[in-house]
Amino acid sequence: MLAFLSPLRRGALSAHATPLAVSVWPSRWTARNLQTASTAARGTFASLRDEDLQKLRQILGAKNVLTPQEVETEELARYNRDWMGKWEGRSAAILKPASTEEVSLVLKYANDHNLAVVPQGGNTGLVGGSVPVHDELVLSLLRMNAVEDLDQRSGIVTVQAGCVLENLDQYLAQHDFMVPLDLGAKGTCTIGGNAATNAGGLRYLRYGSLRGNVLGVEAVLADGQVVNSLSALRKDNTGYGLPQLFIGSEGTLGVITKLTILCPPRPKAVNIAFFACADFDRVQRTFALARQKLGEVLSAVEFCDRSAIDFVLKREAGTGVRDPLEEKHPFYVLIETSGSDGDHDEQKLHNFLEAAMGEESTVLDGVVAADETQARAIWRLREGVSDAMTTAGYVYKYDVSLPLPRMYELVEETRARLKEAGVEDTAKAAGYGHLGDANLHLNVTSLSGRDDKVHGLLEPWVFEWVSQAHGSISAEHGIGQCKPNFLHLSKADSAIQLMRTLKSALDPKGILNPYKVLA
Ligand code: FAD
Ligand code: MLT
Ligand code: ZN
Repeated sequence: MLAFLSPLRRGALSAHATPLAVSVWPSRWTARNLQTASTAARGTFASLRDEDLQKLRQILGAKNVLTPQEVETEELARYNRDWMGKWEGRSAAILKPASTEEVSLVLKYANDHNLAVVPQGGNTGLVGGSVPVHDELVLSLLRMNAVEDLDQRSGIVTVQAGCVLENLDQYLAQHDFMVPLDLGAKGTCTIGGNAATNAGGLRYLRYGSLRGNVLGVEAVLADGQVVNSLSALRKDNTGYGLPQLFIGSEGTLGVITKLTILCPPRPKAVNIAFFACADFDRVQRTFALARQKLGEVLSAVEFCDRSAIDFVLKREAGTGVRDPLEEKHPFYVLIETSGSDGDHDEQKLHNFLEAAMGEESTVLDGVVAADETQARAIWRLREGVSDAMTTAGYVYKYDVSLPLPRMYELVEETRARLKEAGVEDTAKAAGYGHLGDANLHLNVTSLSGRDDKVHGLLEPWVFEWVSQAHGSISAEHGIGQCKPNFLHLSKADSAIQLMRTLKSALDPKGILNPYKVLA
């Protein structure tokens, strides 16, 4: 108990909060919202024939090949539509392999017969990368979900790609380890999908990128060749770093079937605090102070503006989640500490709070979670933004990194732009994200559904703004089918050319996730 936190209230949250559940069956899927697919014309791929189906059924077993003719519409939509309900393909068949060997046989067959394939994990990606654009075969990794090995001394886990992130984390928890990645979609996304998107998430600040934590990858190339780069060594400089090729490649260079991951020990003491700030300058100063005062125990620094919190509170009305602070404020900062010694961490938090509320005056009010239920409720205020804004209408979603001092300028200028065009009452902008990584999520929800006028106001303007500010047009979600046309704004032509060279070397026929990443 942090008894010395007198200026802050503890335990002001409802005890009824429940963990965020990300549904793969969102009620927001309406025809009104669906995007008129990608503008990419269908490639010269073959169409699936009966004899192809027969062969695929021989490889996978009849019940592991689903065709539109045999499956309920909603079941089919689960593989064809993305989580936001923005993109929908018409896959000729959903394939569900159970082993690396089956993935290899399927891809060899597809490559030999010029059939295009979309690898898919939990289908929670936010850039339309996981669903077909036309009639590509969906290769779902969900049956390949076993944890194969855990070295209890080093914390190196070997896991199949289709293992759901939360399940992997729960397995590791039994052995006092954790996955060095956490995100709002944890109950649905897979570790293979996380690696394929190089997902960032909520504790990147502490544990860094999957590019650093994934030690090895087993992947199947487009022609069915299995590449074993499944090293379980922290140090291994034997030539090119092949696992890196597949991490963040969004299923365009190979299908990840297995991974080795270096997992940190699970922290024994965790504190969550939620603060209000008067302006974004104070948000930044709170972050800087947290780094100074909390040092090695700091594990997350997230932020939301009031607009984002309003969406969550509306969405969560009646669930027990409520504003933990008495008054409304323009900005909120969530800070988490994780360590191995509760007393030590609390002392550090105390020092931080004294400075933040005292001589530095960076925060106006705040609350520290008194127990796990309250901690979850605070996290929900932040993790729930995506779902709340997507449910409220049609969401235009931007995931960018920027120099920290300019991070919120983009939200302000977006609002001004929407206002000038007279759409500010129906197109609501909010800013939130991973402050510790200078990763801004700018969402604009059009309350009346998809709106081409709003879209025209936002694109390419947002991407160009970010490029001119020397930021990245994709901090963590990837490129998918959403942003290939803007890739040049964050990557030099020479770099894009090398990406093309790699793509054609590994997948000469271009059957793996076509129309994605590279236009
Ligand atoms: P999918 O959506 O199925 O696929 C994503 C991409 O990876 C596709 O291009 C697909 O072809 C490819 N792919 C999938 N599996 C494989 C495989 N085995 N081999 C090769 N390619 C494969 N992202 C973040 O970075 N940070 C966040 O904080 C974050 N929070 C989120 C919160 C919510 C509520 C939601 C819905 C999404 C969030 N995301 C976040 C987006 C997202 O990228 C992740 O959810 C996740 O990494 C995708 O995993 P998945 O298994 O669902 O992959
Ligand atoms: C998040 O940080 O909440 C996720 O990346 C999802 C989103 O951007 O909406
Ligand atoms: Zn994010």
